[in-house]
Amino acid sequence: EMIEKGNFEHFMLKEIYEQPKAIEDSLRGRMNASQGWIKLGGLDEYINRIDKAERFIITACGTSWHSGMIGEYLLEDLARIPVEVEYASEFRYRNPIIRDNDVVIAISQSGETADTLAAIELAKERQALIYGICNVIGSSIARASHAGSYTHAGPEIGVASTKAFSTQVSIITLIALQIAQVKGTIPTSKMREILYELENISKKIEETLLLNDQIKEIAAIYKDANNFLYLGRGYNFPVALEGALKLKEISYIHAEGYPAAEMKHGPIALIDENMPVVFLATNKSAYEKIVSNVQEVKARKGKIIAVVLKGDTQIAELADHVIEVPETEEILSPLITIVPLQLLAYHIAIMRGCNVDQPRNLAKSVTVE
Ligand code: G6P
Repeated sequence: EMIEKGNFEHFMLKEIYEQPKAIEDSLRGRMNASQGWIKLGGLDEYINRIDKAERFIITACGTSWHSGMIGEYLLEDLARIPVEVEYASEFRYRNPIIRDNDVVIAISQSGETADTLAAIELAKERQALIYGICNVIGSSIARASHAGSYTHAGPEIGVASTKAFSTQVSIITLIALQIAQVKGTIPTSKMREILYELENISKKIEETLLLNDQIKEIAAIYKDANNFLYLGRGYNFPVALEGALKLKEISYIHAEGYPAAEMKHGPIALIDENMPVVFLATNKSAYEKIVSNVQEVKARKGKIIAVVLKGDTQIAELADHVIEVPETEEILSPLITIVPLQLLAYHIAIMRGCNVDQPRNLAKSVTVE
């Protein structure tokens, strides 16, 4: 193993802790908050075509698909461009409508995922512009794309993706911001605030990593659960999906991520005193609504683990455990709220004796169908 684990027992833990640096690397030279600019080389080259796109289609698999979902929220919110997010394996086989003024964004850590590669080949045949967001330099998807941006997360060895995810999210944030700047869809003052927060996000992730011991204690309490539910709204909904995926992948506990409000259409039937429910409750915009979702779970005796903003009191009163994270711009919150979920999955898997870096049946890169 050429790449060392350093002081960490596993690559996954090392990669979780590398996220502040990985994000800094992904942003370096591409933005400046005090000067108020964003400049992704790949985007610049095609900006005249990209800012006229009528639609973005984001295609990916696994964790990369989750960052694509965050991309949908960001691009629609900031750049006001309609976005569809597609599992590459579905997209490629369903005779999708692709127009020559569509921009297809392919997200892939490895740049080698067979379905994602096939999806962009199809979109290329139909004249769409392909923008690749890859981590591995010179990979097949990077080469097959017309333009793109590397995430610069450095090599990711753990099968369960962590730092690749957060750098994908930081790149797609820059894409949304740069298009928003060109199109004038958000006020300059707001742009500055977001850029400032983005420049400081690594420090807040460092702060969040200090919660490790507390999360380990929570893991010890729930390590024997058979099921987990993860709930979030808005920008935290894709985070709920990703948190559930992390737990499934490495601990083999069944976990579902759901939009918090959609719970009443199904998952609520599963809630009893044996069901741990992880709430992502940092949204200021939908706070009262999340509080009522938490109450619904509590009324059914579910065990509540809530990720909240520092100083939260309302949810803290209802929850069995609160994990207090630093506040940031809501659109950047996934970069922070995913961290405790990665750590929770990691510790539970370790306590269950699982091989976190190489979970059974999973591959780092799926190059066959
Ligand atoms: C595999 C990996 C996941 C990854 C997915 C997509 O399932 O185990 O961690 O998210 O493939 O991989 P990609 O390299 O395209 O991001």
